[in-house]
Amino acid sequence: MPLPLVTERLALRPFVPDDADEMRETLWGDPEVMALLDGPLDHAGVGRELQRLADHQDRHGFSFWAVVDRETGLLAGECGLFSLEGRGPEIELGYTFGRAWWGRGYATEAARATLAEAFGPIGLDRVVAVTRHENHRSQAVLGRLGFAAAGSRLAYGREQRFYELAHPHA
Ligand SMILES: CC(C)(COP(=O)(O)OP(=O)(O)OC[C@H]1O[C@@H](n2cnc3c(N)ncnc32)[C@H](O)[C@@H]1OP(=O)(O)O)[C@@H](O)C(=O)NCCC(=O)NCCS
Repeated sequence: MPLPLVTERLALRPFVPDDADEMRETLWGDPEVMALLDGPLDHAGVGRELQRLADHQDRHGFSFWAVVDRETGLLAGECGLFSLEGRGPEIELGYTFGRAWWGRGYATEAARATLAEAFGPIGLDRVVAVTRHENHRSQAVLGRLGFAAAGSRLAYGREQRFYELAHPHA
């Protein structure tokens, strides 16, 4: 699958080790951004996260990707597809953006491009998503994308809301 994926305002590409400092400053090190995930990452945590995403990219040809704001060239966030809980077999959609980029439709724009790849070249029949019950912004993104709520599921060590989206032609 050819990367980057280019949308009107964004480009999605695999992470590279040089992204570490900017990603830590912009999102992974920000307690507010990470409040409903597993909390902020320190320097070593960012390094481990980049390695985890690179390993998944190498193994499966997709991962959570870096989202670049095309106008500024800055890293705005991450968005992509990952094996649920690192194991699969279900594939989850994920997205996280720096606070400066919230409220602009970037997450929805990046996710739409990601889903087109998921149901196109990657060839998935179904994509899932999990969010904490209190993560209303994330649930709004999933609603805009057409995901259906499918109850609650234990994922990443806690009960979370579970969502699914079938291939549009299924
Ligand atoms: C979840 C998260 C990515 C959602 O970001 P977001 O900016 O709210 O989502 P979207 O990109 O869909 O943007 C929608 C908002 O942009 C507004 N918007 C502005 N310009 C827009 C445009 N050109 N197109 C579409 N929407 C636009 C919409 O009106 C909407 O505003 P609202 O929130 O006031 O209703 C963000 O809150 C985040 O990073 N949270 C922390 C990490 C996290 O929880 N990730 C998910 C884990 S499950």
